[in-house]
Amino acid sequence: MEESQEEIKRGLKDVAACETRISHVDPKGQLYYAGYNTDVLVGRVSFAEAVYLTWFDNLPSQKELSDFESSIISEMNLPEAVIKRLKSYSNSNHPMDILQSEIPYLGMHDPDLGDNSDSANRKKAIRIVAKVPTIIANLNRIRNNEPLIPPDDKLDFASNFLYMFLGKYPDELERETINKYMYLHLDHGLAASTFVARSTVSTQSDIYSGITSALGSLKGKFHGGANERVRGMLNEIKNIEDIEAYIQGRLDVKKRIMGFGHRIYQADDPRTKHLRELCENLCRRANKLDLYEKSKEIEFVVLNKKNIRPNVDFYAATILDALGIPVTFSTAFFASGRVAGWIAHIIEELNQRIIMRPTSRYTGKYGREFISIDKR
Ligand SMILES: CC(C)(COP(=O)(O)OP(=O)(O)OC[C@H]1O[C@@H](n2cnc3c(N)ncnc32)[C@H](O)[C@@H]1OP(=O)(O)O)[C@@H](O)C(=O)NCCC(=O)NCCS
Repeated sequence: MEESQEEIKRGLKDVAACETRISHVDPKGQLYYAGYNTDVLVGRVSFAEAVYLTWFDNLPSQKELSDFESSIISEMNLPEAVIKRLKSYSNSNHPMDILQSEIPYLGMHDPDLGDNSDSANRKKAIRIVAKVPTIIANLNRIRNNEPLIPPDDKLDFASNFLYMFLGKYPDELERETINKYMYLHLDHGLAASTFVARSTVSTQSDIYSGITSALGSLKGKFHGGANERVRGMLNEIKNIEDIEAYIQGRLDVKKRIMGFGHRIYQADDPRTKHLRELCENLCRRANKLDLYEKSKEIEFVVLNKKNIRPNVDFYAATILDALGIPVTFSTAFFASGRVAGWIAHIIEELNQRIIMRPTSRYTGKYGREFISIDKR
């Protein structure tokens, strides 16, 4: 038997697996959403507006945006059966595990589940993007024995999420923060979770299955699970003077610093500067400037020692802390923004109509002799 000689690109490094018009990660430190540099749109479009852009390839008119956003907000309610299940989980169950379990269940309550036409998928897309934040918000309220809060149509979609989660009307800075936070998490080329979402639906499976796969990928610590661990690190480091020794200690035993490094960027992650600025403003307001200073010092030390820069998860972690989001909900907040990007990719992939089916290099044996069980 001839040995297989396929070239393996470990971690699929530098492999282009599909074409996309949705977003582009430029190694030189730029990120584009549907042709717009994200730096140009940041703070000038709401989260819902950016979602519209990635789904329809154009920025909406005022009327298109208000129709789109109203349709999302009107879908933020959950089926009673899902709420009942949210109440049944133990507080020790991780929100990401719960979210990943609830998506297929939600799908079973969707009248369009079995219809994979483009028009049905657009309806499902709205429902999913609307209901993911509600699952997260309701879970938090249930855990705190607090009443569930319905959305308020006077608030934009992203602000509703924060309102339903925390149970108080977000002020201007909080509304700006959650919109920018979700905007900056919306999409990022073929991230690991986006790849598995596309791979799942390349079999012409349904949108709920694509999202379930993506959630499983996102929670890993090399991906969106990093932000939770950044918060652990910020808690572990009590004083700014301890940072140098803490970082060196991890590097000495070849442990990674969470929230740092990226497969593609050779320069600053373009999202970092916006998140850093939000982080400073929020921490200043919440009298938590020591947290911001700690984060900046960690950034400085890691850059000096290892020449590695922060990624989206680093300052996002401090932002969530300053907003009062419990640590275990960190990755679920990431998911609340990225789910809209996954959906854009899923719909794009479904239309490409080709199964993703790579090969592997076989390293096992051939022609082994069978020995019956009584002789083994
Ligand atoms: C994001 C990440 C998975 C990218 O991985 P990758 O492209 O496969 O890069 P590699 O694992 O090949 O890393 C290249 C080198 O940088 C080092 N490195 C990368 N990220 C590092 C980090 N966060 N801390 C310390 N060292 C790091 C690796 O150890 C490796 O060093 P070596 O060549 O001496 O072995 C990686 O940077 C990482 O694990 N970061 C921490 C987790 C995180 O923040 N994830 C969120 C991503 S948005």
